[in-house]
Amino acid sequence: MSEYSFGPTGEKFRLPSQEDYIKEFERLNEIVQKQRALGREIVVVMGLGFVGAVMAAVVADAKDKKGNPTKFVIGMQRPSTRSYWKTPLLNRGISPVSSEDPEVPLMINRCVNEKKTLIATYTYDALNLADVVVVDVQCDYLKESLGNVREGRADMDALEESLEIIAQHISPQTLVLIETTVAPGTTEQVAYPIMKKSFRKRGIDSDPLLAHSFERVMPGKNYVASIRDFWRVCSGVDEEATRRVVKFLKEVINTDKFPLTVLDRPIESETAKIVENSFRATLLAFMDEWSLFAEQNGVDLIKVINAIKVRPTHSNMIFPGPGIGGYCLPKDGGLGLWAYRHIFGFEDNIFKITPMAIDVNDTRSLHVAQLTRDALRNMSRPIASAEILVLGASYREDVGDTRYSGSELIVRRLTEMGAELRVHDPYVPHWWEFEKQDEYPASSHGLKRFFRGQEKLKDLRVEQDLKKALDGIDALILAVRHKHYLNLDPDEVVESAGGPIAVIDCFGILDDEKIKRYFELGCEVKGLGRGHVKRIKDQVREKREQLLLDISMKDKKRGLHLSTEDVELLNNGCKLGAED
Ligand SMILES: NC(=O)c1ccc[n+]([C@@H]2O[C@H](COP(=O)([O-])OP(=O)(O)OC[C@H]3O[C@@H](n4cnc5c(N)ncnc54)[C@H](O)[C@@H]3O)[C@@H](O)[C@H]2O)c1
Repeated sequence: MSEYSFGPTGEKFRLPSQEDYIKEFERLNEIVQKQRALGREIVVVMGLGFVGAVMAAVVADAKDKKGNPTKFVIGMQRPSTRSYWKTPLLNRGISPVSSEDPEVPLMINRCVNEKKTLIATYTYDALNLADVVVVDVQCDYLKESLGNVREGRADMDALEESLEIIAQHISPQTLVLIETTVAPGTTEQVAYPIMKKSFRKRGIDSDPLLAHSFERVMPGKNYVASIRDFWRVCSGVDEEATRRVVKFLKEVINTDKFPLTVLDRPIESETAKIVENSFRATLLAFMDEWSLFAEQNGVDLIKVINAIKVRPTHSNMIFPGPGIGGYCLPKDGGLGLWAYRHIFGFEDNIFKITPMAIDVNDTRSLHVAQLTRDALRNMSRPIASAEILVLGASYREDVGDTRYSGSELIVRRLTEMGAELRVHDPYVPHWWEFEKQDEYPASSHGLKRFFRGQEKLKDLRVEQDLKKALDGIDALILAVRHKHYLNLDPDEVVESAGGPIAVIDCFGILDDEKIKRYFELGCEVKGLGRGHVKRIKDQVREKREQLLLDISMKDKKRGLHLSTEDVELLNNGCKLGAED
């Protein structure tokens, strides 16, 4: 029976059959011979995910000083029902990843349809034809509980399987460049032995040419530049591997402007990636306690951070939003902890800050559910059965990547508390973490298992019409700084909602004028790290009380003239409870 893979628009692709594989290799071989005749190096990029799809295009776009393409790239994606669609789409010149960077679709289309330096395939036999293999498959970290990264393990299945397959197919002279973020020690202690063993089985006496160079890609507005025009770190297992990886990266990446750092051993390159991301995770987690301090003591943390950031030594301070999602920051420190014990065999507990940071970040968004509950309570509305709209499903602004987003935890916790959730995100057509929550991203990885009462979330669909999404809600959660949400007009929001609502600002999206306006309209406002909203609320309430006083005084003299806003404030003010 045929199996199918569904693309993001719902298009159906039949998974390849046995006969297809034979024809596919013949097709590849023919193209590759022609490309070799043109003097181009053959590069196979394994894994067409967020990193591999764009890295493949960057390599395919590389040219020599005369402007001639130097590489021919075969993007290799395993034909699972979840991912196979990426292959036929890319072969049409369509990007399998969505982003705000207009260069992504342009570059992929140019390389596939004009320069003809990029194709995609599903057959591992493509590896037989490679001069260079770039490994961009995932290496996960599986957490056993929410908020305790120590209870977890690296999941290297996809990576180990890929390395085994690569070693079974490549020629001894092929450079294998691991770009995947791995537990430190993986290249030399895990990958090298796997590949060597396979080489020996094939009767190959030489050792694999293996190197590591991690990706720093940011899938957002500067997606392409974050791969091509950015500093790289690399290292090979021996001199020859190092020479080859340096040569390759210099040919495909802008190393003139962004010089390469060559480290002595792959473990140093691997550690650099883990430390880099643990550092970032720690900076963000550090802000969580100050965010709570700010909420409880009338401080606007956004203004505080902006005041500090003018100091050049502190310019990278950032506000954490509703939790730290994305694929990398929640897991990378875990890979470091795990390597210390399971690759190097140490028993002691040297890591304190890294796991604590991840744990804080992993649970920060649960506080949003508490703020929502409290805001509704102040309006005398129960959280159970409240209609709540979350604006933004992705983990950061202006991208369609929902992996481990804070919004997912907000939805799960509020659902557990009995609320009815809706979601809007212009970049996310389907939120698979819910629609396919029993199998995506694999039942062992999903966050569903940490919450009760999640079954109905299978039916959660991402609304694309904001006005419709707002209709009849009790609470609005501004979860992501997508550009579409930065200038929402409070009057229009309240009108679309059909009356005053609770507004929860998770990312410093509302300025003081907007916060004031929401209060004037009878709404309740709360925000992560935004303790000053209480002050604004008090000012609005005082103004209303003053008006009431004026009325009672002047009404007797029959001389009072009220502005429209005053009337509005008086009408709405009854909803401005003093609770907090
Ligand atoms: N996404 C980011 O922003 C980012 C940034 C820096 C580094 N990284 C790192 O890059 C690596 C890849 O991340 P990603 O975001 O692209 O992951 P991803 O899950 O989007 O992509 C991985 C792809 O590899 C494919 N794959 C798995 N096994 C395969 C096999 N045997 N053969 C062929 N394809 C296979 C998967 O189907 C998937 O399409 C990870 O180590 C990640 O930590 C990611």
